[in-house]
Amino acid sequence: MLLVKTVEELKDVAFRIKSTNRSIGLVPTMGALHNGHLSLLKRAKQENEVVICSIFVNPVQFNNPDDLAKYPRDIEGDIKLIEPYVDVVFAPTADEVFPEPPKEHYDFGMLERVMEGAFRPGHFNGVGIIVKRLLDWTNPDKAYFGEKDFQQLVIIKSMVKQFGLKTQIVPCPIVREESGLALSSRNQRLSPEDRKKAADIHRILEESLKLKEEPISIIKEFVVNEINKIDGFKLDYYEIVDDQTLQNVEFYDLSEGIIGCIAVYVGEVRLIDNIRYK
Ligand code: PAJ
Repeated sequence: MLLVKTVEELKDVAFRIKSTNRSIGLVPTMGALHNGHLSLLKRAKQENEVVICSIFVNPVQFNNPDDLAKYPRDIEGDIKLIEPYVDVVFAPTADEVFPEPPKEHYDFGMLERVMEGAFRPGHFNGVGIIVKRLLDWTNPDKAYFGEKDFQQLVIIKSMVKQFGLKTQIVPCPIVREESGLALSSRNQRLSPEDRKKAADIHRILEESLKLKEEPISIIKEFVVNEINKIDGFKLDYYEIVDDQTLQNVEFYDLSEGIIGCIAVYVGEVRLIDNIRYK
């Protein structure tokens, strides 16, 4: 495994891999890695000759300074965990990635005006900035993203299309704890009690599947009411949206794919999750 800390070296390494006709799978992460990240890396290893994993807590995608300050970091633990599955780890400093404040402005249209985009202004521009740079520097054949961050996945796909990049974006299913809680680096910040409670998010979403035949408004109302009943939960949103446009779905038959996306504070920790209805 090669540990790379500079952009120049990353570009050189990727260029050398490509010039010997080997395929590259890229897995961008922010570290504090867990089995969710590992599932992406394992898939990348199966499908590519060389796997590059980036570990970088990207400051420009955090709209809340406290969230950035408290974001868990454990680069040594991360490297130990992923070593069997990666060939190259790119772990730069913020100054290396942003020698000057980034000036790129991406427009993802209606995709960024809802849900995470509405609640976290500037977030997706920040995600776009780092992911576009990583794609440019490594020129991967495939890049892997989790369905846990469903809106992010849709936005990255749209960015790749917008710029005509040749990288294939590979969506990967959500990995959960036995309790049903979706794995997340932020789970580390939950107290043991809150961690147990947080499993209710998935439980409630699963329960709402039973209402699939009901009007969308009924499903939505059910989830919102059940979440609000739980002490210590504060709901940001629950939206039932088309899985391509991310716009609200009112009638079941009008969309081919329907997904319910939730963001909820459990104590001070903001968690997201989603469930597919169709
Ligand atoms: P991070 O939260 O570290 O996640 C890195 C990748 O792992 C993302 O594609 C995310 O969807 C995926 N992932 C996280 N938890 C998962 C789970 N439980 N199951 C499956 N996949 C999971 O997402 C980011 O970092 C950043 O926004 C990034 C894309 C790296 C840009 O900075």
